[in-house]
Amino acid sequence: MIVTTKDLFDVAYGKFAIGAYNINNMEQCMGLFQGNLDSRAPFIIQISKGARAYTHKLMLESIIRAADQIFPDAIFAVHLDHGDEQSCFDCIESGFYSSVMIDASHEPFEENVAITKRVVDAAHARGLVVEAELGQLGGVEEHISVREEDAKLTDPQQAKEFVERTGVDSLACAIGTSHGAFKFSGSQTIHFDVLEEIQKLLPGFPLVMHGSSSVPQEEVARINRAGGKLEGARGVDENLFGQAAKLGVTKVNIDTDGRLVWTRVHREFFLEHPDGIDLRKPGKIFMAEYAKFIAHKNEKLGSAGKLDTAARAVGS
Ligand code: G3H
Ligand code: 13P
Ligand code: ZN
Repeated sequence: MIVTTKDLFDVAYGKFAIGAYNINNMEQCMGLFQGNLDSRAPFIIQISKGARAYTHKLMLESIIRAADQIFPDAIFAVHLDHGDEQSCFDCIESGFYSSVMIDASHEPFEENVAITKRVVDAAHARGLVVEAELGQLGGVEEHISVREEDAKLTDPQQAKEFVERTGVDSLACAIGTSHGAFKFSGSQTIHFDVLEEIQKLLPGFPLVMHGSSSVPQEEVARINRAGGKLEGARGVDENLFGQAAKLGVTKVNIDTDGRLVWTRVHREFFLEHPDGIDLRKPGKIFMAEYAKFIAHKNEKLGSAGKLDTAARAVGS
């Protein structure tokens, strides 16, 4: 059952965080649903602009609608990740998405406010929920690359003003994490002090932590042993999710870790089967491994076991 991110935030705020996982294909979709049901967790499916362009934007919609039928107990939101104004409007009009992210964080403050407000007005008129971003994460996203020294932590006072002026429903804050597999190359860490300040000024308001992959070192080692070159890759300590959730982080974005599972499975499979050509064999292993990974993450986020609570809250 597709719900809005707000439905899920109402259940989770201050207690646990909802996992927001990016998908690009059928295998990720099947593993994602399986892992969330195995761990009895509500979840958020994220679709980036790149994912929408990978085959065709309608392909992912169809795959998700099919998964909704295959796993009728699942409770999830469908969310556009890092949208620009045009992709937000496209998703709002599609009638399929339940929430969109407008990412104008690279724009000056006033421009970010103006763009976000336009998206909020259009989305709210159609019953969709909006996430925006203030501050700048380090790392690489599809349309923008931010060097660590250029990343800017979210200013708490500005966050309060931004939320009040835009009417946005949740806010992605730059608190030290970054996108991709190479985080914290300098002296960065999660800035709990900034989170605490934002929560004081915006009590009860859902915050979003992007760049939350933990880049498990065992996964990196296995990839490297099987021919990869990911020396120095590292991520966020997943044992900190609980602390972040208490400070208002209600949505935790994870994409890179899923890519690592995919890379490890396929590198190991073809190393062990140099004559292998049947894509279904590694595909099947990946779906099972991805499901295990999702269930583990949900334990760390505290969303595992919360499916029934979410079901009661949305009246399903
Ligand atoms: O934050 C970005 C996400 O990891 C999505 O990545 O734009 O390459 O699909 P992508
Ligand atoms: P990671 O690169 O840490 O998985 O972050 C994903 C993300 O923030 C998607 O919006
Ligand atoms: Zn992100």
